[in-house]
Amino acid sequence: MSEEVIVVEGNNTLAGEVRVSGAKNSALKLIAASLLGRGETVLHNVPLISDIDVMIEVLRRLGATVTREDHTLIVDTSSVDKCETPYELVSKMRASISVLGPLVGRFGKARVAMPGGCQIGARKIDMHMVGLEALGVKFDIDHGFLDASTPHGLHGAHVILDFPSVGATENLLMASVVADGTTIIENAAREPEIVDLANMLNKMGAKIAGAGESLIEITGVAAESLHPCEHTTVGDRIEAGTFLVGAALTQGPLRVVGVDPGYLRMAIMKLESMGCEIESNSDSVTLRRAVPLRSTEIQTLPHPGFPTDLQAQFMLLAALANDMSVITENVFENRFMFAAELIRMGADITIEDHHALVRGVQKLQGADVSSTDLRAGAALVLAGIVAEGQTRVHNIAHIDRGYEDYVGKLSSLGVNVSRMVLDEGMN
Ligand code: EPZ
Repeated sequence: MSEEVIVVEGNNTLAGEVRVSGAKNSALKLIAASLLGRGETVLHNVPLISDIDVMIEVLRRLGATVTREDHTLIVDTSSVDKCETPYELVSKMRASISVLGPLVGRFGKARVAMPGGCQIGARKIDMHMVGLEALGVKFDIDHGFLDASTPHGLHGAHVILDFPSVGATENLLMASVVADGTTIIENAAREPEIVDLANMLNKMGAKIAGAGESLIEITGVAAESLHPCEHTTVGDRIEAGTFLVGAALTQGPLRVVGVDPGYLRMAIMKLESMGCEIESNSDSVTLRRAVPLRSTEIQTLPHPGFPTDLQAQFMLLAALANDMSVITENVFENRFMFAAELIRMGADITIEDHHALVRGVQKLQGADVSSTDLRAGAALVLAGIVAEGQTRVHNIAHIDRGYEDYVGKLSSLGVNVSRMVLDEGMN
């Protein structure tokens, strides 16, 4: 059986200018939110990635018409008449659970396949359920499906999240906008993608105040008062951070365009502490490095803490820095699998519970390595740029889920990288 891999030639650099795509972790939810407005919603700066294809298919299965013109999606939800998502789509992409809130908001009911876990953790949805139950939703679990109903309608509530869950905050936002009365979400997630979603919902006629803070207040409006809108997805801060790490590895200079530097404050602070010089303006970040990489300490935390989605990329940076770095993963229970792949390339990493002790080495060696999640996969390609010899990254479907034209963008920055189909037995 053949397999497509990404092949990278080492001892290279990465420099120039690259424009990031729209944020995957916003666009997916903006598409789901379009269900709350009957008619044609237009979304710009939507990345061309496979997760978006899955979400488009979810909307089509619900009865929506979705057309794509380059990076613009036109989502017509006038004829949406179903409220069930099939297992095979949710199992492909757990973010499909983001249609739960809008379906409950629009129809008062939903039947959504329970998302499974993934490589990085159990990815439970208990906080989604507890929060929605507070708004009046009743759940029955039926053979792997969540059957949601609202026997007495949706009503406002004061919800305190155990943990500032991004997905739970989003589902609560998309249901509470049409609840009867006011909802408070306390300990809400503060990610920039939450603000992007709230901005779009407010354009649709919702009344949300405080998005981006830990306490969000939603004043419910009549469901029929919500209308379609036109909205542009924010730039992808994680894609931007990934390229900045690539430049930090090879000294740059690199200019990343299309992202608000304010979304990357913690990552920029860490890059500067590791020896990088960074200049920012309204929608770009420029990085160069003239001194040896210094070690660092990282704790992944909900925004504005250090983003877990940049943890693998910074572990790579630490693997080539001087001295010893400590990286602690506090958001997901199993997000260190990337370390095992990096060790195969010669990194010196010891995992102790949710801490990774990374002792810097002089050089990595190219090898055959495997993506364990999309961020680890992207980081393995970066590792191949600076390693000795050739690296072949396997399981690259993970990368295609969240990085638009990753190989093309890296090639435009001088990286010797390509996609190759390996026939069975090719060593
Ligand atoms: C979103 O996942 C992102 N995905 C993730 O990005 C990101 O890592 C994560 O937020 C944290 O920033 C999308 O937006 C599609 P959470 P989400 O709910 O919403 C636990 C990437 O690489 N939890 O904040 O699932 C959960 O298991 C991906 O682009 C519960 O226990 O994240 C996790 O350990 C990876 N019960 C932690 O909370 C719940 O009800 C954070 O989850 C919900 C979450």
